[in-house]
Formats: sequence, structure tokens, C-alpha cells
Amino acid sequence: MPAPSTLLAPSILSADFTRLKESIEIATTAGADWMHCDIMDGNFVPNITFGPLIVQAIAACTSMIIDTHLMIANPDRYIEDFIKAGSHQITVHQETCPHLHRTIQFIKSLGAKAGVSINPGTPVSTLESILPDLDLVLLMSVNPGFGGQKFIPSSIGKTRQLHEMRLQVNPQMVIAIDGGITEENAQEVVSAGADALIAGTAFFKSTNPALTAAKIRAMTR
Ligand code: DX5
Ligand code: ZN
Repeated sequence: MPAPSTLLAPSILSADFTRLKESIEIATTAGADWMHCDIMDGNFVPNITFGPLIVQAIAACTSMIIDTHLMIANPDRYIEDFIKAGSHQITVHQETCPHLHRTIQFIKSLGAKAGVSINPGTPVSTLESILPDLDLVLLMSVNPGFGGQKFIPSSIGKTRQLHEMRLQVNPQMVIAIDGGITEENAQEVVSAGADALIAGTAFFKSTNPALTAAKIRAMTR
């Protein structure tokens, strides 16, 4: 069965980049489980963020699991660089991978956990064939590209549908949900089947990140 308690993954995208190390320490102290790194290329998504050099700097500041979300075209080209930089988990977008099975096996062959993400407009059913091979699925609950967007409600039904699917073929697989997660909607997504909640704005812009983290991690199905 999936992880018993809800996992919290703050997205470093919403942190203060002039104080990166302190931001990571805030997440560590708050008991966060993964450090979520949003990689954007200005091609697959409209925004550009950072590359392996910054991931390496983040990994050097923490023993937390480094969860790298590649919102980039042709991710195969950079997977090895991000794993060498310290990523423990690599998630690619289904929409960017014509040879998804090969990409997933490639990530695993390099010793990292492998995930697939789908955009709000991509049906969960497109994951059916690859599901047995995955360590995690990252459901996008906003259109990828920016932090601070509003949660798209249809993501709840997709979470429920994916939860049903994984029970049949891969119950160990983790369901993560990413975008617009708040203390207010966290319970609903966990009840629907999410195991890991990615939170950028809700965590780093909170007046009390430790309290926000405690509330989110206390959610149970
Ligand atoms: C969106 C990113 C998310 C985002 C989360 O493209 O993948 O990880 O930064 O930020 P919030 O929690 O602010 O929606
Ligand atoms: Zn993300």
C-alpha cells in the first residue's frame, strides 16, 4: 500500500533565492519529506527556471529526497545531469516523451526513482500501459509554468481515477499532486488518493511554514 502518512514536498520555486540555504533549512525543520525542484525550459512551458547546477547546490544543503520535476522538451538529454546533481527522483512529462517506456527505464538504470507527470488536459487513461513501471505519478493540478496559480477542481476526479487504477496494477506507486495546493484543499486531494502534496506558495509564503507543514502532513485518507 502507499505511504501511510501524507508526504509534503515544498517547491523551492516559491522560496527566497537570495537565501536558498535558509529556505531549505526552513523546509527541513518543518519536517518536509521531499524537496521539489521545478525545472522549466521556456519551450514546453512558458517560464525558465534553473538547471542541474542549482539542483546540485540544493542537494548539498539537505539530506531530504530531491524530487526533480522536468518540465522540459526532450528530457532524455538532461536526465543524467540531474541525477548526477543529486536528484533521487526524476519526473518527466508524458506530453514530452514519445518513447516514455524507454525514458522510464533509462531513469531507473541510473539508480533514481521514475515518475510521470500529466497536464490538467491530459487524461489519466494515457498512463495505463506505463503504470506498472512507475514509482510515482505527478498529477498537475494547474497548467505547468508558474507557482501561485489556482487549483483546477477536475484534478480531484483524476486523482480518484488514478488511485483506482494503481490499486489494480501497482499499489506501491505514489500519487503526487502539484499546483495550487493549500491547507484548505489538502484533505480533499488526500481523500481522493494523493500520497504526496507539492506546495510552493502555501509553504514558503506561509507566515508559519512549520505549522502549515504539520497541518498538511496530518491529513489522512
Ligand atoms: C508548476 C510547478 C509547481 C508549482 C507549485 O508548474 O510544477 O510545482 O511551483 O507551486 P504552487 O504551490 O504555488 O502552485
Ligand atoms: Zn512541480
